Amino acid sequence: MTAGTGTASASATQERTDTSSAPTGTPLLSVRNLSVHFPLKRGFIVQREVARVRAVEGISFDIYPGETLGLVGESGSGKTTAAKAVIQLRKPDSGSIMFDGQELLGMSNSELRPIRRKMGMVFQDPYGSLNPRMRAGDIVGEPLKVHGLAESGDDYRTQVSALLTTVGLSPGMAERYPNEFSGGQRQRLGVARAIAAKPSLLVLDEAVSALDVSIQAQILNLLQDLQDQYNLAYLFIAHDLSVVRHISDRVAVMYLGRIVETADSKDLYENPLHPYTQALLSAIPTPNPRLEQSRTRIILQGDLPSPMAPPSGCHFHTRCPIATEACSLTDPDLRQLAPNQAAACLLATGYDAAPSPVSRV
Ligand SMILES: Nc1ncnc2c1ncn2[C@@H]1O[C@H](COP(=O)(O)OP(=O)(O)OP(=O)(O)O)[C@@H](O)[C@H]1O
Ligand code: SF4
Ligand SMILES: [Mg+2]
Repeated sequence: MTAGTGTASASATQERTDTSSAPTGTPLLSVRNLSVHFPLKRGFIVQREVARVRAVEGISFDIYPGETLGLVGESGSGKTTAAKAVIQLRKPDSGSIMFDGQELLGMSNSELRPIRRKMGMVFQDPYGSLNPRMRAGDIVGEPLKVHGLAESGDDYRTQVSALLTTVGLSPGMAERYPNEFSGGQRQRLGVARAIAAKPSLLVLDEAVSALDVSIQAQILNLLQDLQDQYNLAYLFIAHDLSVVRHISDRVAVMYLGRIVETADSKDLYENPLHPYTQALLSAIPTPNPRLEQSRTRIILQGDLPSPMAPPSGCHFHTRCPIATEACSLTDPDLRQLAPNQAAACLLATGYDAAPSPVSRV
């Protein structure tokens, strides 16, 4: 492995080793050609569209029951927008989202209500996402009330106590307010709320990014335990590849609204094929001083271009260290380059299988 050998945060967590083969069976979530645009409008009387933020542009991915897909990319690459579209907090412009055998696009709010129960979300800022005026027990119990999942008052209190215990908090903490918890405990509360309605998919948007390294490891361990216990599927979003590595079975790398590489976690970290992934991985320090000394860091020039006016051809060509003239003319498709790995790069070559074109999956 040349880079991305992990950090203290990840070393305290149990590394996944069962990532070498593609999952079989039916995906729990199947996203195809998903696009989300934000039109920018101007005008006093008649509002006209003057520009369009192409936040997510034709992305496709699957998540299987009990599996974790890591979604990484720098700030502004479209991770949160994609996640919000998946759980229907934001209407996509086009594409398909199949969840548990049902197409979500085009569903009415009443049709979506029972499906929303099966999808939980945990946000980056546990304090901001928890109502400061609600007691912990009420926060955790809210989904039980919303979805009518408690048969009686006693049943409700029993379920709330069990949820608090499941995430490593004590039932006695139900009476406390969010400001009486530490950052890690608040995130446990957020997780308890997210699993209250017994979902099959959790979207975790930078759920551990704001936490100290040791607390990060505790929450990651908790998430892995919950996944094993309840066969939960995770869409795990982070900008830190070292965090994503230790929880993900597969990883998708986003750049400017698109997925530019997708692979089994182990393959991605050992053999990144896309120059953007290689640059992201090269930025991760390794705890081994000898490897750290020989680590070559790829510094990307400039900032992420505006998604309102993405570069021509390969969107990464303005920052790619190996770009050629052809890169500004041709928009590369995501190509299968190894058994469990695909990259959208004209120059990338595989290491075990002959490349064959695939649509953006
Ligand atoms: N409501 C909105 N209106 C207009 N543009 C938006 C809106 N929400 C997001 N964007 C733009 O869409 C792009 C993708 O944003 P998004 O929040 O999905 O990125 P992200 O990958 O989650 O970034 P971060 O790592 O900072 O959370 C950005 O250019 C952002 O400015
Ligand atoms: S297609 Fe060209 S610019 Fe794009 S990633 Fe590959 S080498 Fe770089
Ligand atoms: Mg985000």
